[in-house]
Amino acid sequence: MTDILADFYLWNKTLHIISVISWMAGLLYLPRLFVNHVEHAPVGSETSEVFKGMEYRLLRYIMNPAMIATWIFGLCLAFTPGIVDWSAWYPYVKTAMILGMTVFHMWLSKCRKKFDRDENSRSAKAYRIANEIPTVMMIVIVIMIVGRPF
Ligand code: HEM
Repeated sequence: MTDILADFYLWNKTLHIISVISWMAGLLYLPRLFVNHVEHAPVGSETSEVFKGMEYRLLRYIMNPAMIATWIFGLCLAFTPGIVDWSAWYPYVKTAMILGMTVFHMWLSKCRKKFDRDENSRSAKAYRIANEIPTVMMIVIVIMIVGRPF
């Protein structure tokens, strides 16, 4: 099994990076949609229904599959022999960030359901602040896996 993972290492990493980019695009775009939904689409308006459709499709057809693919290819990379230096700190910091991103994804999914039921209670400012969270986590991840400072 580990031989197969080693043979497919570069393809695995390619697919991992493609999925990461797709997942990140959604994690950055969905909170922006929420900001605009709050500011420009009052409950019951036609625009609000358009936003609901956009939010549903982004999460269902892009973000959920991209998150699952990122995890699958990432775990395959993690089990490839000799790829990760488990005696260093960087893989554990990356893992903490990935778990944070996954929790953030689930929180966005909960927010989307609230918008769908016209029950959102958060302000546009709250979603603007939330928008910074995946950016910070992404920067830390890239520093960990490429710069490997520790
Ligand atoms: C979701 C669970 C994830 C797992 C289990 C995972 C695991 C891994 C592993 C084991 C590697 C191989 C390291 C190497 O080749 O040196 C890797 C590479 C990489 N990961 Fe992840 N990762 C995940 C999510 C992410 C996320 C969220 C990002 C970015 C925001 C990311 C960005 C990258 C990049 C850019 C590489 C290539 C690094 C290089 O070639 O130097 N990964 N990942």
